Amino acid sequence: MKRDFLTLSDLGAAELQALLIRASELKRERTQGQRGHSLTGKTLGMIFEKASTRTRVSFDVGMYELGGHAVHLAPDGTQIGRGELMRDTARVLGGYCHGIVIRTFAHTIAEELAHFSPVPVINGLTDLHHPCQVLADLLTIAEHVGFTALQQLRFAWIGDGNNMANSWIEAAALLGLELVIACPEGYDPAPDLRLRAGSHVHLARDPREAARNADVLSTDVWTSMGDEAEAAARRRAFRGFCIDELLLQLAHPEAVVLHCLPAHRGEEITDEVLESPRSLVWAQAENRLHVQKALLERLLGH
Ligand code: CP
Ligand code: NVA
Repeated sequence: MKRDFLTLSDLGAAELQALLIRASELKRERTQGQRGHSLTGKTLGMIFEKASTRTRVSFDVGMYELGGHAVHLAPDGTQIGRGELMRDTARVLGGYCHGIVIRTFAHTIAEELAHFSPVPVINGLTDLHHPCQVLADLLTIAEHVGFTALQQLRFAWIGDGNNMANSWIEAAALLGLELVIACPEGYDPAPDLRLRAGSHVHLARDPREAARNADVLSTDVWTSMGDEAEAAARRRAFRGFCIDELLLQLAHPEAVVLHCLPAHRGEEITDEVLESPRSLVWAQAENRLHVQKALLERLLGH
């Protein structure tokens, strides 16, 4: 039976850990110049209804490196942009492709695609979740502290309770991580996810509370794609929610900083912090390739 990856909890904890280990193997093999063939003859359809650099390129390159092929579909130039229903696109692409990545607005659009698609659907970002990014984030931290040490860390999310925050909540619930989320009132993550995560996730209003003794500090833009009309109001609401040197001083002396990118330097993170040795953002971006290759093998492979 086909399996979709729409949210992190579509994986079990053991499966998630195995996937991170496979990603790290694929990464090592790549540095040794070894090429994979696990997806020879397979094609991935990639629907992008929002902009993307990392997700688009890493899936495309990932398919190529595993012996497969990727086809990019933007609304402009396809019938998707002219209103063809996702349920129809799902069945048509299912006749050509062995998997579909979708980046879209409402999460229900990705769910509809998955429901009607005969082949696995991967969430490349919706308004509600960004699970592929959090897989890469987890790999980045696992590489930094060791695969068995994740549960001993204190994770802080500082900023918008957006798709990234929601996927981090799922990661905390799945792996039993301690996660403190600091966001201004009115910008909370999804309440049902928080409820399900129970005592693993705490909500704070003061970014200093989240940063204090944190081992990993993560953030993301204050205005996500689709929220542009609220940008000015958000800039006011998020004042003080910037990862800067002062905030970092409250964290563990060896704390590291993540940002899924693209970043707005001077808003959610300072240029100094982003460019400092504490920042793991370039490894984090590269790890998108390795975790997604492991995911593609799992969902599209034999
Ligand atoms: N982090 C991330 O998903 O980047 P893109 O928007 O460039 O894909
Ligand atoms: N939260 C951001 C992530 C971009 C990768 C957005 O949805 O625009």
